[in-house]
Amino acid sequence: MVFQKALSALVLALPIVLGLPSKRATDLNPRCEFLVPIAKDLLENLFDNECGDAAHGALRLIFHDAIGISPTVGGGGADGSIFVFNETELAFPANDGLDDVLDDVGPFFLKHSNALTPGDFIQFAGALSLAQCAGAPRVQFALGRPPPRAASPPDLVPEPFDSATKILERFASVGFSPQEVISLLSSHSIAGADTVDPTIPGTPFDSTPSVYDTNIFIEVLLKGFLFPGTSGNQGEVMSAINGTLRLQSDSELARDSRTACFWQEFATNHAAVQKQFGDAVFKMSLLGQNTRDMIDCSAVIPQPPALTNFVPSFPPGQSLTDVQQSCATTQFPNLPVLPGPPLVVPPIPQADDGDDS
Ligand code: HEM
Repeated sequence: MVFQKALSALVLALPIVLGLPSKRATDLNPRCEFLVPIAKDLLENLFDNECGDAAHGALRLIFHDAIGISPTVGGGGADGSIFVFNETELAFPANDGLDDVLDDVGPFFLKHSNALTPGDFIQFAGALSLAQCAGAPRVQFALGRPPPRAASPPDLVPEPFDSATKILERFASVGFSPQEVISLLSSHSIAGADTVDPTIPGTPFDSTPSVYDTNIFIEVLLKGFLFPGTSGNQGEVMSAINGTLRLQSDSELARDSRTACFWQEFATNHAAVQKQFGDAVFKMSLLGQNTRDMIDCSAVIPQPPALTNFVPSFPPGQSLTDVQQSCATTQFPNLPVLPGPPLVVPPIPQADDGDDS
């Protein structure tokens, strides 16, 4: 945890950036040019040019920083408070596991902290992380978040054992519809858990955690019958594929009448979820920010590789009869079944956090 202490003590020399946000830039605004070598550094040296553990962690971080705002208890949203006030925010139970992420990402922030505020750095790294994942949208990035003033209040980050109602209300309080929430959960297509079942770190949420596809939406709707590690973990329910972990929150939102039809539609509509996720992530990145003081630096974000050869399918040995039909108005479609023996999905290789303390 060497980085975390250093960061709390850091006095930042912060740039002041003014300007008007425009539609997605195709030409690079000269005021964004300084981001090009920083992007190169992060893509090559933080993410190792792959959609792996470090990229997943950077993506989770954008959410846990941005959601720290509420119309009733305050908070600065996507302000980088999770970096600067990490001793407070990492103690929130919902932020379990983010200490490793900060240990990976933090040294890169320190290296570039003369150029980027903490809030800008987190959202920039998150947008870049998606550029590593085939099938992900190219998300917009706006520059100009001022430094954070205080830690986020507690209890603003949803927990995997929260009810669907509590989660939807939390998101609604900061302007996200149920459909936007489900689009945001497509992030769990390129994700896994280290701390939900601590005996099996790096356990993915779907069978293809290095690709942004729609398998998460198919697989979470299948009847669960196994725990990939131990049973009885808070926030976990049984999954349908060996080696994958199902969050209780994903499971409930997949089956809740307010969200089940969005979940089902996304199972076979990659283009729709890709577009809606991209829009929702950008909206989330602006929580608590004054967009009039920001400039559009989206042109710095590379286009992620396209998703090739993906056909929404049931995993080997499973079929439509294993789907727990949850959308009341439309039947889940009959999909092809992948050939072969039942899947055993390997853990996600863990990034070296260099933590020798
Ligand atoms: C209902 C809301 C959400 C809940 C309850 C939730 C819960 C969780 C949990 C429990 C983990 C595993 C943590 C661990 O054990 O290491 C996780 C991982 C992750 N989540 Fe979420 N999440 C939610 C929404 C989101 C959103 C909106 C995003 C991003 C846009 C996101 C991105 C990720 C990513 C990328 C990971 C994997 C992190 C890694 O592998 O290091 N989640 N989430």
